Amino acid sequence: MIPDAEEKRARYATARKRVHALWSGEPDSIARMAGAACILHEAMPHAFWTGFYRVVGGGLVIGPYQGTPGCSRIAWGKGVCGTAWASGETQVVPDVHAFPGHIACDSRAESEIVVPVKDARGNVIAVFDVDSMEKAAFDAVDREELERIFSAWA
Ligand code: SME
Repeated sequence: MIPDAEEKRARYATARKRVHALWSGEPDSIARMAGAACILHEAMPHAFWTGFYRVVGGGLVIGPYQGTPGCSRIAWGKGVCGTAWASGETQVVPDVHAFPGHIACDSRAESEIVVPVKDARGNVIAVFDVDSMEKAAFDAVDREELERIFSAWA
């Protein structure tokens, strides 16, 4: 079930308050990611995989998430996650089969959104990835609301 724009906004508003309250009292990045993955997964009924890949050395390594088993590591510039990391830009992918180089950790994935998480200097320290079994589950509303949530990371 993909919520309409109004319901998405309401769900994200509640989630944003919860995530920002958690982050304001918790400096540890893994604890922050774990809490955000849970809160945002609950907020998005259109998601089956919600969570983080962290920049570790020269690659992305899986971090806290909710959902089915994911790939452990993703290289720079590879897949939707590696593209979000390399470009520093949110990737909204309505049809993963049309995205060159998409990495299918779960073959049921049909659409996804990936938002870069940046430190105070603007360096990407992780990406936040949400996958859906429905096509076109994510749009400009998800992008705007998730970017608003993650702008408060640093
Ligand atoms: N689909 C992502 C890989 C990560 S998972 O789906 C959990 C990608 O293409 O980067």
